[in-house]
Amino acid sequence: MGLFSFFNRELAMDLGTANSIVIYNDQVVIDEPSIVAYNRSTQKVIAVGREAQPMEGRSAEIETVRPLRGGVIAHFEMAQHLIRELINMTNINRSFLPPSLRMVICIPSGITDVEQKAVRETAEQAGAKEIRMIHEPMAAAIGAGIDVLQPEGHMVVDIGGGTAEIAVISLGGIVCNTSIKVAGDEFNDNVVDYMRRQHNMYIAVPTAEHVKIAVGAAVSELADPPEDCHTTGRDILTGLPKAVMVNYKEIAHALDKSVARIEQAILDTLAVTPPELASDIYKNGIYLAGGGALLRGLDQRISSKTKLEVHIAEDPLRAVARGTGIALRNFNKFAFLIR
Ligand SMILES: Nc1ncnc2c1ncn2[C@@H]1O[C@H](COP(=O)(O)OP(=O)(O)O)[C@@H](O)[C@H]1O
Ligand SMILES: [Mg+2]
Repeated sequence: MGLFSFFNRELAMDLGTANSIVIYNDQVVIDEPSIVAYNRSTQKVIAVGREAQPMEGRSAEIETVRPLRGGVIAHFEMAQHLIRELINMTNINRSFLPPSLRMVICIPSGITDVEQKAVRETAEQAGAKEIRMIHEPMAAAIGAGIDVLQPEGHMVVDIGGGTAEIAVISLGGIVCNTSIKVAGDEFNDNVVDYMRRQHNMYIAVPTAEHVKIAVGAAVSELADPPEDCHTTGRDILTGLPKAVMVNYKEIAHALDKSVARIEQAILDTLAVTPPELASDIYKNGIYLAGGGALLRGLDQRISSKTKLEVHIAEDPLRAVARGTGIALRNFNKFAFLIR
């Protein structure tokens, strides 16, 4: 095809627990759920990403996995498939030019050295020649518009699917970092549990996610409340399909304990932040990124808990990818990128 010149064969990849995003030429070219579907008996991969999503829980033959679930590589081989397929989807390797692909890959900060090495090797096998990695909170900070090289403390809270990552960043380094396995997936589980207890109804996780996005909230008083959500599932007692209306106050209640755990993790991180950086954070406030930042009233709730200003990064679902893209442009300048 020859569409891509020798010099701009560069990709930034945000390998998220819920969504993976690839940036090419400063544009998001791939934005897919981090899901792989494969045949249970032959182990052959059937689909990756958006195509794999509807197969979740709908067939006895097909198993779907989220290889990065929980912020670690839960399924090694399938993670490799995911990385390979994300690179292939860009069509970048179809070019007849000799492979010279340069990549920055954003990895969850809970990933081990062995896993990190596996990610690198997989990208190499898929054609990448020069690879750097970046930890998720650092990419989130850059994507939120923070100049991470300055001698100035900033706190970022990235709430994704599997983990909430809380970090204080200064002078191109992560000074304090807390990662807890409380994020979007747990919110979904909270909704499933709530519907079972309160409405005697089983709902599937994708339905719970839909409810969370439609009427999810972190506070029980919203100035601009969303419309109630029509929710379908199976009645526990009768076994019959049924529907109920769910409002945001119910979901705020369902998510309360999980949100409180994130708040506590923020307080704990602030409590171990060196005083100089704490005064910077007092001035700069806290930055929220990741899909969880979109939960209604979360900024407000964290703000009243910490007495700090809370900013939501622009397009928070893509903040980490954007930051990874900026890191790619500063491939040689950002010494904190992992070789
Ligand atoms: N409007 C919304 N309100 C609440 N949660 C949301 C919203 N939109 C997306 N999410 C959640 O954000 C999570 C995905 O965020 P993302 O930052 O892409 O995660 P990751 O980096 O782990 O892949 C999912 O759990 C999803 O349900
Ligand atoms: Mg992420």
